[in-house]
Amino acid sequence: MRKIAPARLLLVWGLVGCLAGLEAPAWAQTTQAGVNTDANAAAKKAAGKRKPGVDRGRTKHSAANPDGTYMGRRIADVMSWEGADWLFRETRVQEEQPEAMLDALKIPRGAVVADVGAGAGYHSIRLARRVGAKGMVLATDLQPEMLRMLRENARTARATNIKPILASQDDPKLPVNKLDLVLMVDVYHECTDPETMLKAIKQALKPSGRLVLVEFRAEDPEIPIKPEHKMSLKQVRREVEPIGFVFKESLEFLPWQHVIVFEKPAEPKKPETSKSAAKTGAP
Ligand SMILES: C[S@@+](CC[C@H](N)C(=O)[O-])C[C@H]1O[C@@H](n2cnc3c(N)ncnc32)[C@H](O)[C@@H]1O
Repeated sequence: MRKIAPARLLLVWGLVGCLAGLEAPAWAQTTQAGVNTDANAAAKKAAGKRKPGVDRGRTKHSAANPDGTYMGRRIADVMSWEGADWLFRETRVQEEQPEAMLDALKIPRGAVVADVGAGAGYHSIRLARRVGAKGMVLATDLQPEMLRMLRENARTARATNIKPILASQDDPKLPVNKLDLVLMVDVYHECTDPETMLKAIKQALKPSGRLVLVEFRAEDPEIPIKPEHKMSLKQVRREVEPIGFVFKESLEFLPWQHVIVFEKPAEPKKPETSKSAAKTGAP
């Protein structure tokens, strides 16, 4: 039987569908990211460019930061799952260039990575493709509803190497010493207890593992995001470095966001004892 090109199938479906008033099948609604945006139908109320905040009252402050500030900045409210459609807005690919951002990180196949604050999986699915079958993506979020959408999106994209994890503000629920990279896109500024979070992430990374924070630039008032949902490079370094991360670089090629890369220091080499020197025959 002659094979029909997918583009032609889409065209035929579109014509027949229009005439019959049918909805396109799930595979036809799949976006460039391989994400079925229709899975987020429950969240379709959300709109606009501005990032939606919580709709059920303000985020509860942690005991560590009861006044809702950390090192001089206001901690942002957690973005509600009801605004998840905003995470799949059509303009996001141009605004945030997710593939170029991930290219720049040069993530090797087989890597074990965590997408902390994964939301509905916008980056988890892209990461899953990059690390391949031998790699793994641990996708954490605070909101079970986000993880439900993430599971649905992963199923549609046939990504079987994503493990959704329900985390809490003071415990990212990550395994110790197992991760090559932790990615947090538009999440860190929502953490109510950044110090505890960073310490746990450091513990979860392998020596020389990377922590990457992608944050809207607070230095640019033109970026249409609420101020507490932005961060300056200076503030990020001020908060992250005292935990023991080494600042590697800040990539500045995205239109609106910093891509800030830190590294967990490699374990210091153990000093050679006279016993081990004798074994290796060293003088
Ligand atoms: C603005 S959304 C970004 C989602 C995703 N990273 C993306 O770029 O599409 C922020 C997400 O971070 C989650 N979040 C906030 N604080 C968190 C924490 N401490 N641990 C895990 N998830 C968190 C929220 O529930 C929300 O889904």
